[in-house]
Amino acid sequence: MRKKDREKFSPVRVRLKTGQPCKIRFLQPSDGTKLAEFYQSVPEEDLRFYHPYPLTRDQAFQNAREALSPDRVVLVLETDCGQLAGYAWYRWRKWAKKSTFGMCIRREFQGKGAGKTLMSRLLEVARKVGPRVMSLTVQVANHPAVNLYRQMGFVILRQQRQEHRGYPHFAPEPEYYMEKRVR
Ligand SMILES: CC(C)(COP(=O)(O)OP(=O)(O)OC[C@H]1O[C@@H](n2cnc3c(N)ncnc32)[C@H](O)[C@@H]1OP(=O)(O)O)[C@@H](O)C(=O)NCCC(=O)NCCS
Repeated sequence: MRKKDREKFSPVRVRLKTGQPCKIRFLQPSDGTKLAEFYQSVPEEDLRFYHPYPLTRDQAFQNAREALSPDRVVLVLETDCGQLAGYAWYRWRKWAKKSTFGMCIRREFQGKGAGKTLMSRLLEVARKVGPRVMSLTVQVANHPAVNLYRQMGFVILRQQRQEHRGYPHFAPEPEYYMEKRVR
C-alpha cells in the first residue's frame, strides 16, 4: 500500500464484545517478532483453515518487511499490551481486477467480534485502495468464517477442492470460492 494511501487511514480504537479495548492499525516492517509470536500461537485446528503460506518465523519477518508493499494491505488488531489478537490482509497482482483476502484471529479472541471488526475496517480501506473485487476461499466446514463472509456481503460463486498444498497431513476437502464487489 502506497504511503499516500496509508496516510488516509489512521489507527482506530475498537472494543471487543467483552469490552476489551484494542487498536486496529497497519502492519509495520518492525512487527516481525510480534507476527512470529502470533503465527506460533495458531493451533492445529486453526492451521487447517488458515495456511496461505507456512506460518514460520522466517515467513513472519518476510511478511512484516513487505507489509508496506504497494500490492497489499495488512491490518492488525492489537491489544493495549501490544499483543496481536489477529490480522487480516488482501493483496493483488499489478493490474489485477481482483484481490485475494485472508484473516486469522488468535484462538482466545475468537467469537468476541474481533473478526467482524477487523474485516469491516479492512473493507473500509478496500473501498479506496486496490481492485474493485475481493476474492477468498474458505473451507465448507469452516462455519464461523463462512457465516462471517456472508454477513460481510461475500457471495459463493463455486465449490472446489482444497488440497492443503504444503500440509499433506490435512485431507483434501471442499471449499467455497467467494467474491465481493468492494466499490
Ligand atoms: C473465522 C474467524 C476469522 C472469525 O473471526 P471471529 O473473531 O471468531 O468472529 P466474530 O466474533 O467477529 O464473529 C463474526 C461472525 O462470524 C460468525 N461466527 C463467529 N463464530 C461463530 C461460530 N462459532 N459459529 C458460527 N458462526 C460464527 C457469526 O456470523 C458472527 O456474527 P455474529 O456475531 O453477528 O453472530 C476466526 O474464528 C478465525 O480466525 N478462525 C481460525 C482461522 C480461520 O478460519 N481463518 C479464516 C480462513 S478462510
